[in-house]
Amino acid sequence: NRDSVGSVKQQLSKIFKVSLQSTFPNDVDIDPLVSASTKFADYQCNNAMGLWSRIKGKFTEFSNPNSIGQAIVENLPPSEMVQSTSVAKAGFINIVLSNVWIAKHIENMLSNGIREWAPIIPVKRAVVDFSSPNIAKEMHVGHLRSTIIGDTLSRMLEFSNVEVLRRNHVGDWGTQFGMLIEYLFEMFPNWEDAGQQAIGDLQEFYKSSKKKFDEDASFKERAQRAVVRLQGGEEKYRNAWKQICEISRREFAQVYQRLGIHLEEKGESFYNPFIPDVIQELSDKGLIEESEGARVIFIEGQSIPLIVVKSDGGYNYASTDLTALRYRLREEKAEWIIYVTDVGQQQHFDMVFSAARRACWLPDPKGNLYPKTNHVGFGIVLGQDGKRFRTRSTEVVRLVDLLDEAKNRCKKELQQRLENNGKLGEWSEQELERTAEAVGYGAVKYADLKNNRLTNYMFSFDQMLNDKGNTAVYLLYAHARICSIIRKSNRDLTELTKSGSISLGHPDERILGLHLIRFAEIVEEACMNLLPNVLCEYLYNLSEIFTRFYTSCQVIGSAEETSRLLLCEATAVVMRKCFEVLGIEPVYKI
Ligand code: ARG
Repeated sequence: NRDSVGSVKQQLSKIFKVSLQSTFPNDVDIDPLVSASTKFADYQCNNAMGLWSRIKGKFTEFSNPNSIGQAIVENLPPSEMVQSTSVAKAGFINIVLSNVWIAKHIENMLSNGIREWAPIIPVKRAVVDFSSPNIAKEMHVGHLRSTIIGDTLSRMLEFSNVEVLRRNHVGDWGTQFGMLIEYLFEMFPNWEDAGQQAIGDLQEFYKSSKKKFDEDASFKERAQRAVVRLQGGEEKYRNAWKQICEISRREFAQVYQRLGIHLEEKGESFYNPFIPDVIQELSDKGLIEESEGARVIFIEGQSIPLIVVKSDGGYNYASTDLTALRYRLREEKAEWIIYVTDVGQQQHFDMVFSAARRACWLPDPKGNLYPKTNHVGFGIVLGQDGKRFRTRSTEVVRLVDLLDEAKNRCKKELQQRLENNGKLGEWSEQELERTAEAVGYGAVKYADLKNNRLTNYMFSFDQMLNDKGNTAVYLLYAHARICSIIRKSNRDLTELTKSGSISLGHPDERILGLHLIRFAEIVEEACMNLLPNVLCEYLYNLSEIFTRFYTSCQVIGSAEETSRLLLCEATAVVMRKCFEVLGIEPVYKI
């Protein structure tokens, strides 16, 4: 596999950079503004207007934006990429790519592998902080969204050659543990022998200990003492804590296993020992003030301060996040730190980031871009009644059950479909099961990812499992159909890729080719703006554009069979990479 050649946009930008440098030799830092264009050409270069407003009134050879556009075009170095250019009145440069170049670009990808189309992103190492449920509390659909979105963002960055530290910032520290441990000791004196059986269902255990905590004042006091002993490191307390964490961890793992998600746990407890030093540093830098007994940081433009030491002297969510942030910057040398939680936590992160800028851990945003932090917020999951998603009126949804239901529904539907086609006999039980998993879990992920993450989204099995419309089911089946076209041709794909070539004679072939080669810049856009829905939209359009091509261009048995099969294969390869980056397992047969 060769290294990435960069996106088409990046390649065009290089050519325009050369021209801009020779057109404006005293102004070598002008960044080319190249973008895809769907109206007048394939791409556009939009520098002329901006340059004109900068030099207007000064004595130069340019009399209007159009003359700047003309000059940029004249100074373009020769390139096989560009077929033709034209300059619009306002100076916009329309760029038409050469068919031969588009075809070559696709052929190269087929022989060298899709990694060649990875975008080039100016970051070496990133931390993605996602999923991050709380021990002993339920992992709810909000955590499911965080898990799905965070995994996709990690995959997009990994494909773009960024090293990603996938971090599960689990809530495994804090006052609730005093209550849980004390409850364990009092209700199950033999807990060490009974082990995890004593606790049973952890959520129930949490509920009943919380009840006692709220109702029984002396228990509450004992629970508060237990926290102190746990935090003081007493062995018996540490062991009970570990035991409780372990049960939660096993439950979370069931969800991760089904969704094929890997992440490394570095929970709140990990950062705890470093907090005092961080508070000291912030205090030395003059950031910390006293307010109502607590130690706080005031942030410009915020109505409330960020509490970093509570009035009882304890640390909190914010002290942990500040410490984790400094750790990620200093020890882990992350250049980009991305936090995936519901939008409700936006203010918390805004304040943490501002505090970090005041402490000079992060650069002034007007200067250096990196290291940088982003909070990736998302909306809530709604049930079909438009209210917060729940199975029955009060109960929360167990995520594992939810995922199993998606799979089971898929399996039933698949069986039905195969039976109707008389194909059920060709499928082994294992194949059925695996396909149902791929489609079912894929459907849950895609239904979440295809929306702009900031909007609330409605959870509906009927919608996400529909085989028509913008769903994973539709897309996975579309991919399987392309694979079956290629299989039916009985041609040797390796041979085809080696010796065959692509030509884009039919308009629908060109549209398909052009859409294919935009893949890299779409991934780049989705990464830089942290918006997985951009990639979903691209994938859906790809499948529609393919359908149009397949309707108007005969593949098997035509004079262009070789070229068209290669276009089919390129489409399948790009679709598979989209699936992979979205965390969806492809399906080859249907
Ligand atoms: N445990 C938190 C919650 O469930 C999410 C943690 C997000 N990450 C962080 N570094 N604060 O709401």
